[in-house]
Amino acid sequence: MRYSFQLFCFLWIILFLTSGCNHKSEKLELISPNQKLILSFALDQNGKPYYQLSHQSQPILEKSYLSFSFKDQPALAENLIITSSEQDEKQETWETVWGEQKTIEDHHRSLKIFLEEKEEPKRKWEITFKLFDDGMALRHHFPDQENLQEFAITDERTEFKLTGDHTCWWIPADYDSYEYLFTESKISEVDSSLYNVRLLANTIMEKHAVNTPLTMKTGEGIYLSIHEANLTDYAGMTLRIEDDKRTLTSSLVPAPDRTKVKGKTPFSTPWRTVIVAEKATDLVESTMILNLNEPNKITDISWIKPEKYIGIWWEMHLGKSSWDMASGKHGATTENAFKYIDFAAEHGFKGILIEGWNTGWEHWLGPDREDNFDFVTPYPDFDIEKITAYAQEKGVHLIGHHETAGAVNTYEKHLDHALDFLNKYHIPAVKTGYVGTIFPKGEYHHGQWMVNHYRRVVTKAAAKKVMILAHEPIKPTGIRRTYPNMMAREGLRGSEFNSPGGGGLKPEHLTIIPFTRMLGGPIDYTPGIFKLNLDEYKEGGYSVPTTLTYQLAEYIVVYGPMQMASDLPEHYEGHPQFIKDVAVDWEKSIVLNGEIGEYITIVRKDRHSYDWFLGSLTDENAREITIETTFLDPDLSYEAIIYADGEEADFEKNNSDYRIERKDISHNQQLNIRLARGGGQAIHFKAKQ
Ligand code: NOJ
Ligand code: CA
Repeated sequence: MRYSFQLFCFLWIILFLTSGCNHKSEKLELISPNQKLILSFALDQNGKPYYQLSHQSQPILEKSYLSFSFKDQPALAENLIITSSEQDEKQETWETVWGEQKTIEDHHRSLKIFLEEKEEPKRKWEITFKLFDDGMALRHHFPDQENLQEFAITDERTEFKLTGDHTCWWIPADYDSYEYLFTESKISEVDSSLYNVRLLANTIMEKHAVNTPLTMKTGEGIYLSIHEANLTDYAGMTLRIEDDKRTLTSSLVPAPDRTKVKGKTPFSTPWRTVIVAEKATDLVESTMILNLNEPNKITDISWIKPEKYIGIWWEMHLGKSSWDMASGKHGATTENAFKYIDFAAEHGFKGILIEGWNTGWEHWLGPDREDNFDFVTPYPDFDIEKITAYAQEKGVHLIGHHETAGAVNTYEKHLDHALDFLNKYHIPAVKTGYVGTIFPKGEYHHGQWMVNHYRRVVTKAAAKKVMILAHEPIKPTGIRRTYPNMMAREGLRGSEFNSPGGGGLKPEHLTIIPFTRMLGGPIDYTPGIFKLNLDEYKEGGYSVPTTLTYQLAEYIVVYGPMQMASDLPEHYEGHPQFIKDVAVDWEKSIVLNGEIGEYITIVRKDRHSYDWFLGSLTDENAREITIETTFLDPDLSYEAIIYADGEEADFEKNNSDYRIERKDISHNQQLNIRLARGGGQAIHFKAKQ
């Protein structure tokens, strides 16, 4: 008895010492520049890598394991050893070509861990962590090595193990679309069967999985948002909620052969990112995604210019005109183009998007979409020579439209000519579109093959000096830093859903978007619907579910460097000047207040003047907000032109009631903002000379 007790103690001590020893030698730590975030990395007894993250000593992510499985070779998951590690710190400031801020600080610390399998095939795997004050990022890298060359990843399992059943704002893990309203629920309640939406392309394979950015609020009031940065030559990442309802695992969009990513060493994955914020507003001001992308690769940037645009667009969505000519109500006619050009020139809009200008729209969503559009043949009633000459004369330009209807090989076949065509007609930007399922069949919008396609379009366009506005895109992951001709994209339920047949929007939508989708990057939301009552377009009546000043606030709240004034020219007559005055490129942006799904107020300073602009909007609840004008320059005085909801304004009962007020204002004053139900407010702080 005594003997076995001694043996027990002895064994226990050995175990303690060895595990303590292992632990000590293998636990690596990294601390953020402001000391608030701590990341630790270690291998468990089986040589499996995991990391943990804490904020102000409170755990944020618990033991989260990392592993890969491959086709035709063993998984990389265990029996690993740390061969070495490196730490580094970087602090620099860089300037954006355009954006929400003119200068951005990149201050982070990094930890690079070199792993190797203990036994044959002794494959090597490197993991780099970066800690910024606003969050954590990690990236996997497979260096060039004999026993890992060409590979097909069947699963990447990067885990994010949560500390509780957080509240989250989510859309389903659709492989083809992000065009959903967000749902607020607990992580344990995420269930895509709540969505019975039918989109032109939608593929939801996992019930308990979401697309990113996934934003959450912990029980302790900390905000987290998981996304990815620099999505290059890889499949898009969705997040699966495992059965424990705590562990989120990366779940990659598959290729037709059901593998996820094909590659060859040396090979890096995108960054897996977690923004950590003490206030919801700090999420929106995070710059981590951009800091994780490579610097601008375009040397001559003189042709990259943010701008506002109008378009022959909403009239199609209202059913007033059509994209195709055979319908007899073709929208893209020479005459109509002239009307829009005149309107743009008169009111200071630089771009005119014209959809339905090219042949092929008769069969654009038919079963066989290959070889339908060639992107260089205008319809006979659209005189491209005359129209572009007239636009030039008036000092404005067209924005091209390449709707591929998902026929991607067809688009690639014509892409060079299509870009040359744009150059020939002095068209500096093009809106691309990928409505419907992808051809060849089996590919998804968010898979590796499409990620590479979208990138080819951006880089080819950069070589031809063409700016891109992408619809039905891959989500933004900060590529705009490297290719600043990647202006804005859809990748959300945009304003087109305001159309009577569109499927609907809710006022709360844009109180969620800034804290979720917008964390990835700029949006082509196409705001500015002024004629909100659309009864004439729908039996039983229909009205856009916002007030008019909410539509104005969208120009500030929903960031994009190419902002559309999307309504019909005649609907702007006699209405607020704000859309004409509002800037599109910013020196500084500050989120003054906001709670996810409730309200938000953002102010932005014009990059080319001393003026500031404010946008504030609310969900279906009216509210009063007080702001302080601490952002204004103390040495200047301003005239505030305030576009506010009228006394009777209400998104359901009276959405067109608004008032305009002017008052002198300076630094450090208080301003009360009253928002109607589904309402908004926009302010132009005009610096006095
Ligand atoms: C969907 C786009 O989001 C919309 O803006 C466009 O008008 C149609 N596709 C047609 O290309
Ligand atoms: Ca769309």
